[in-house]
Amino acid sequence: MAVSTTEQSLATAPSHQGADWWRQAVVYQIYPRSFADQDDNGIGDLRGVASRVPYLKTLGIDAVWLSPFYPSKLADGGYDVSDYRDVDPKIGTLQDFDDMVAALHEAGLRLIVDIVPNHTSDQHEWFQEALASDRGSAARDRYVFRDGSGQDGNEPPADWESIFGGPAWTQIADGQWYLHNFAPEQPDLNWENEEVREDFRKTLRFWSERGVDGFRIDVAHGLAKDLSDPLPSQAQLDAMPHDGNHPLWDRDEVHEIYADWRKVFDEFDPPRTAVAEAWVESDRRPQYASPSGLGQAFNFDLLSATFEADSFRQIVSFNLALAEESGSSSTWVLSNHDVVRHATRYGLPTRAGSTNKEVGNEWLLSGGPESQLDRETGILRARAATLFELALPGSAYLFQGEELGLHEVADIPESERQDPTYFRNRGVDIGRDGCRVPLPWSSSGTSLGFGEAGSHLSQPAWFSQYAVDAEDADPESTLNLYRRALALRREWLTAESLTWVEHTDPDVLVFRRPNGWVCATNFGNSPAELPEGEIMLTSSPLEDGKMAGNSSVWLRG
Ligand code: GLC
Repeated sequence: MAVSTTEQSLATAPSHQGADWWRQAVVYQIYPRSFADQDDNGIGDLRGVASRVPYLKTLGIDAVWLSPFYPSKLADGGYDVSDYRDVDPKIGTLQDFDDMVAALHEAGLRLIVDIVPNHTSDQHEWFQEALASDRGSAARDRYVFRDGSGQDGNEPPADWESIFGGPAWTQIADGQWYLHNFAPEQPDLNWENEEVREDFRKTLRFWSERGVDGFRIDVAHGLAKDLSDPLPSQAQLDAMPHDGNHPLWDRDEVHEIYADWRKVFDEFDPPRTAVAEAWVESDRRPQYASPSGLGQAFNFDLLSATFEADSFRQIVSFNLALAEESGSSSTWVLSNHDVVRHATRYGLPTRAGSTNKEVGNEWLLSGGPESQLDRETGILRARAATLFELALPGSAYLFQGEELGLHEVADIPESERQDPTYFRNRGVDIGRDGCRVPLPWSSSGTSLGFGEAGSHLSQPAWFSQYAVDAEDADPESTLNLYRRALALRREWLTAESLTWVEHTDPDVLVFRRPNGWVCATNFGNSPAELPEGEIMLTSSPLEDGKMAGNSSVWLRG
């Protein structure tokens, strides 16, 4: 076994404290309406989050990312915000928010909140005012209103399709049309309007003053738009490169907005952090992650990759280089509230030319034949991929329930479905409700400990095996694997670099961190030789002294 020459390094020393806390933080995403229901109305709430702080502390994470908790009619799971500076009465009050922040901080956990600047809810007072105001008014200028095309203006200004399916323009009573790149209940804001800019500065300060440590920026690549006439057709949009000049996505000017926000973040001590959700060409990601911009950006490459040594290695090398370019740390994500859970993705057959994610959606759409889902392989690979992820330099974003090894829920009754992608793309997209089913806290009882009033998305019977109390009692459970891994990670955190260590088996990837922390992952199905070193943790038991197939091992090398 030889050490390869591929050393990838960033000089920064690790720190859980001070302004750099985020660089290698483990951030746990909470989808609040599906986490814990303390007030027993069937929807998870902020007091529910506060009540589970001991659980989060024991898990060993550094920070929580809270998905939107603002007043919302839930046309898109809370990503349709009707007031950016308040709490949805269905899930709490500002006092509950303050209490939750205090509980998290007391436990040494930081808090990141979601900011949704591309669009508001159609219930937002600005949109209601726009509807009640005349064409060309200041109220309409906060959004993107246009006259229609065709002789009487009853055709949309362009044939654009929304991300969630269906047209991206909707007509209002006086005949004008407004742009919504997502659901019709999510009108896009006009970021050329200074009032819009000022209001978001106010929002960032509002939550920063309440003790929020950072922000996750939703659809960060969508704010700047070029809507000059003539508007291109959808076909023309589709043919345009995403190189900074596309009319709708990832325009260069968007970075002026984030440079301005950086000044707001820096008004606080320590400066507030931000992470961009920017679905952009990889080589354009560093701009979002630059220290003079948002500072960090999600990297979804692992999340979209098949479970293969070559692709994982390539993704890691490439993203560490990108991080170095931006001056940020890399981020790693395997699951979130928008995708099929990784334990399920990895248990599905792969098809040449498609990603696991696509196969996952296809499987779910077809009604989820159990014959195609290999639950056992899925969870073995998920555990292995998690150890791989947690040993990498940079920060890891976990999604609630992945620490239990939860699978996606495929058989959600039509009457319970909530995700607009399901309704707007009927028959094409099964939607994202399957990863948003409320967590099982106990293996029996009403809604498995989620709350006394039941759950807004039914939990399947098999959820009880994955309940926190059941896994707590089982030393080999995925929950206890995450706990051990996170404790070891804290102990072994080191400078943001790794060295690849060559292994004779092409299905095995091995890397070493500067302090001798070694991670080996066997992507194949057959046992493989262990690298040298003292074993600290394995995702599956060894087989005859060898690494099991679909497993990872951490060693002191
Ligand atoms: C982001 C969110 C997603 C939401 C969309 C529109 O992609 O992660 O859940 O539906 O933005 O706000």
